[in-house]
Amino acid sequence: MATILGIESTCDETGAAIVVNGTIVRSNVVASQISLHEKYRGVVPEIASRAHIESILPVIREAMSQAGCTFDDLDAIAVAYRPGLIGSLLIGVTAAKTLAWSSGKPLIGVDHVHAHLYSVMLNEAPPIELPAVGLVISGGHTSLYHVNSWTDVALLGSTIDDAVGEAYDKVAAILGLSYPGGPIVDALAAKGDAQAIRFPRSLLGRDSLEFSFSGLKTSVLYHVRGVPKRNESRDATSAIPPPPTGQELFDICASFQAACIDTIVKKLRRAAEHVDAKSIIIGGGVSANRGLREALRDFELPVYFPPMQYCTDNAAMCAGLASVLLEAGLISGLDLDAVTYSQFRA
Ligand code: KG4
Ligand code: ZN
Repeated sequence: MATILGIESTCDETGAAIVVNGTIVRSNVVASQISLHEKYRGVVPEIASRAHIESILPVIREAMSQAGCTFDDLDAIAVAYRPGLIGSLLIGVTAAKTLAWSSGKPLIGVDHVHAHLYSVMLNEAPPIELPAVGLVISGGHTSLYHVNSWTDVALLGSTIDDAVGEAYDKVAAILGLSYPGGPIVDALAAKGDAQAIRFPRSLLGRDSLEFSFSGLKTSVLYHVRGVPKRNESRDATSAIPPPPTGQELFDICASFQAACIDTIVKKLRRAAEHVDAKSIIIGGGVSANRGLREALRDFELPVYFPPMQYCTDNAAMCAGLASVLLEAGLISGLDLDAVTYSQFRA
């Protein structure tokens, strides 16, 4: 039974977790930075990396102590080394390398996005039939994958502009709601009429497995503030109408959410046909969305979602996936380097 310490610092959550045998979560500690980024309505990279520096060691200590674990009990130290914000990634990667070197334990670099998919295995380890279509939907990612095994995950398509979680957060800002907006829009959507406004569903080409959410976000903006007239320039002094309230707000949330869900379900169906999938695996912050879970209840293939607490960024998913990588001998060298979004996409 492998006991693995996982470390996560790709974006704005500092996480450490102890996972046994790839699925049994002994501890999962997350220091959230939401209160630091809230007033900017998005993650500020410099603030994120400074906060990681402050929390990384206390978070690791807490995860070890909650699991009643010492370094002698560990079989490996895992870290999410890609993709993410460079300043954030470096904190977790440096901590993991230092601990691996000083304790003499193997280091395992984990892909954060693959770890989001693996989060469906935590606690319950459902018997998932492969190949599967994997979908990671979060604030930074909207991508479809062909999952042949946990060590063979191939990208099928990604968003060409906004990630779906980013669209939720930006629409929430347009509607005067706080950050992160996804869970708030999801809750308000439950009180609204999803047919009230017909927002666009951007499916791109007939066979496209890519996504686009920026047009939908702009449609919500124009619906709320009106379409700018030709040659109209809006400066800081232009009057912005007050955000909608009551039933109008609920209907906008429900209609926006319906457009996101319709698009996601159609793309899942396309991808499943494309790779002849036997199941669907969904991970990432937006996989907590209740409307999406409801919409996929009767999908033609089995659909696996992570337990709610493992949808957003956490280290348990990294430690879990690392167990599979350790078994496959996929151990990293101490020269493991952080890989950012742009390097990753290049
Ligand atoms: O996976 P995550 O913690 O970070 C990234 O890797 O980006 O995802 C955070 C994103 C945010 O955009 C947040 O608004 C969104 O997940 N989110 C949701 C819900 N819960 C979190 N979006 C829609 N519905 C939700 N219930
Ligand atoms: Zn993430």
